[in-house]
Amino acid sequence: MVQSMPEVSPTKWHLAHTSWFFETFILKPYKKGYREFDPDFSYLFNSYYNAIGDRHCRQNRGLLSRPTVREIRDYRRHVDEHMRSLAVSSDIAHSERIASLLEIGIHHEQQHQELMLTDIKHVFWVNPLRPAYLERAIPEKTEGVASEWIAVIGGLREIGHDGVGFAFDNEGPRHQEYIAPFEIASRLVTNGEFKRFILAGGYQKPEYWLSLGWATVQAEQWRAPLYWLESNGEWHNHTLGGLRPILDDEPLCHVSFFEADAFARWAGVRLPTESEWEIASALADLRIGAFVESGAFHPGVAADRPGLQQMFGEVWQWTSSAYSPYPGYSPAKGALGEYNGKFMCNQYVLRGGSVATSRTHIRKTYRNFFPPATRWQFSGIRLARNI
Ligand SMILES: [Fe+2]
Repeated sequence: MVQSMPEVSPTKWHLAHTSWFFETFILKPYKKGYREFDPDFSYLFNSYYNAIGDRHCRQNRGLLSRPTVREIRDYRRHVDEHMRSLAVSSDIAHSERIASLLEIGIHHEQQHQELMLTDIKHVFWVNPLRPAYLERAIPEKTEGVASEWIAVIGGLREIGHDGVGFAFDNEGPRHQEYIAPFEIASRLVTNGEFKRFILAGGYQKPEYWLSLGWATVQAEQWRAPLYWLESNGEWHNHTLGGLRPILDDEPLCHVSFFEADAFARWAGVRLPTESEWEIASALADLRIGAFVESGAFHPGVAADRPGLQQMFGEVWQWTSSAYSPYPGYSPAKGALGEYNGKFMCNQYVLRGGSVATSRTHIRKTYRNFFPPATRWQFSGIRLARNI
């Protein structure tokens, strides 16, 4: 039930909230005679849906000592049983709508499974014992490869989801954008590369930073990525496998948009736009990449292969694109219209997924989004440059 900062939710809350999602959007409207498990739970476990009603405030989720974990597990079992009986029932009224809501509910749950890992990681970080969530051996492959620039053809290109298969509403409509030819880095930025930025005084020189980013560096006293610790010139980082020495060739992780942008400026290049990233992703294989199923829980060194590497899995990649609606976008009617659309302000788009993301959750058109100072997600950097 621990909540280490307002953005972090207790694991217990995630389990209750994903159950609440199925109960609220499927069982209550579509299962005949369904009675909710506990009428108080909607107040406790509604995340942000104004159309559903009032709710408990986010930063106090860690104070919910009741209901207990056992009661939440009972709630989950209750919802699961009713979902199962609805799925096999012969009542075919609304079956297409129910199937579509079930698909959203499963993708929603995958998002919260990822958040459980990032939240547990932060909860263990604020514990001075720095516990390991899962013991993991130090990887054998620690030698990386040089980054190369890969040219991408520009022109009038199509961006966004084509409507075949599942996608969140924010991935469409598919539309045309003009993209000038550009180059994209063949792999992610590494810890070793970011150490050079630190040693060059990157965190002390305002010329590399956006104004808001520089103000954040001052206010938060940032001197390194989140989870980095220096002692006697040796760097360690906190991982889901506990505290361990930082490997220079591993992908950099847990930086904000501000740090990604400052690093790119220091390196004399820039971040890709989300459209550039999506066009470039056609050169990459979504099946190659470490997602949560790898069991690594930490990004790994790039393979020695030609072409574009690490586009999917490993770490989310910050883009320079503000999270805005695509031309022609309009949120769905009703409460589920609040899922993505109302957050299209003051956030930046990340692409590609991470070692905490389910493999079946990600797509080339997938748009993740977080405020620019966010660091507790598995977020890293890929560079781009003009030709
Ligand atoms: Fe949610």
